[in-house]
Amino acid sequence: TGENLFLYEGFWIPEFLLKSVVSFQKHFVARDTDLILASSLKSGTTWLMALAFSIVNRTRFKTHTNNSPLLAANPHDIVTHLELKYMESESPNFEDMIPNFPRLFHTHFAYELLPPCIKSSSSACKIVYICRNPMDLFVSLWHFVPKFRSKNTTAPSPPHNLGECFDMFCRGIHDHGPYFDHVLGFWNASLESPHKVLFLRYEDLKEDCVFHVKRLAEFLGFPFSEEEEKRGVIMEIIELCSFGKMKNLNPNTCGTNFSGIPNSAFFRKGEVGDRNNHLTPSMIECMEKLVQEKFKESLFRFK
Ligand code: A3P
Repeated sequence: TGENLFLYEGFWIPEFLLKSVVSFQKHFVARDTDLILASSLKSGTTWLMALAFSIVNRTRFKTHTNNSPLLAANPHDIVTHLELKYMESESPNFEDMIPNFPRLFHTHFAYELLPPCIKSSSSACKIVYICRNPMDLFVSLWHFVPKFRSKNTTAPSPPHNLGECFDMFCRGIHDHGPYFDHVLGFWNASLESPHKVLFLRYEDLKEDCVFHVKRLAEFLGFPFSEEEEKRGVIMEIIELCSFGKMKNLNPNTCGTNFSGIPNSAFFRKGEVGDRNNHLTPSMIECMEKLVQEKFKESLFRFK
């Protein structure tokens, strides 16, 4: 995204987040009820935020379609970004969050960079990770880059040639990269502690949203009752958070979010397979080889 990137504990962190990763690691105190949404850039963060927020807070709004705060604000302004909070201060105040509801956070930091209090088996807080096919993710990132440029950066404009960007991505040099290591960290954690880390795929959500939204709700500790199912609450939430609905909501068509990114930049196509419209056969082959190599010792497979 045109930031100066620094390799910090194995991951490329944009310069403006370096202090915040350290403060976060040092000062964050996890509560057993905390829910942490984690993702790499462009893997479906906005969608996951909208779904998790709607699931967790559904009893606060009489009907989701009429009263949800998602109708009035971009999901990135509703779910607290941990790293950006720690940019504001070494010990940010989370008291503005709603009492009696779990704190819902988001982070792009890799699993390895999360503070021990989140990962510890003695803490009951939970993590949901969403991943996406690396080629679709790359295409999404490539479109996103020119729309996002931090005010704080001193770095020269990044290359925007598709081939150059692809090369950097394959070498793992991008915000919070290497992507494959990012995925592997959360994947392995979900195998070790399935009650603590839920691993989702963007493509699975697209394919069977009802099944995965139910799974998400159960994992978060807010399962749907039979009565809710009958009332169509699941479908209501899915509809509210759908790409078509969210992209056209007023708050998402204009304005910028707290970090100066146009709200509309988070809603482009929302499809699976856009790689085929942008990447050459040799790029696809190259990425497939990389994936094979990187995951050969793992059961993990991208869709
Ligand atoms: P595309 O650029 O392929 O369209 P993130 O939220 O992590 O930044 O990811 C953004 C990607 O998710 C973009 O992909 C965006 O269009 C897509 N997206 C955003 N909201 C979505 C939704 N409600 N359903 C499906 N995809 C969504």
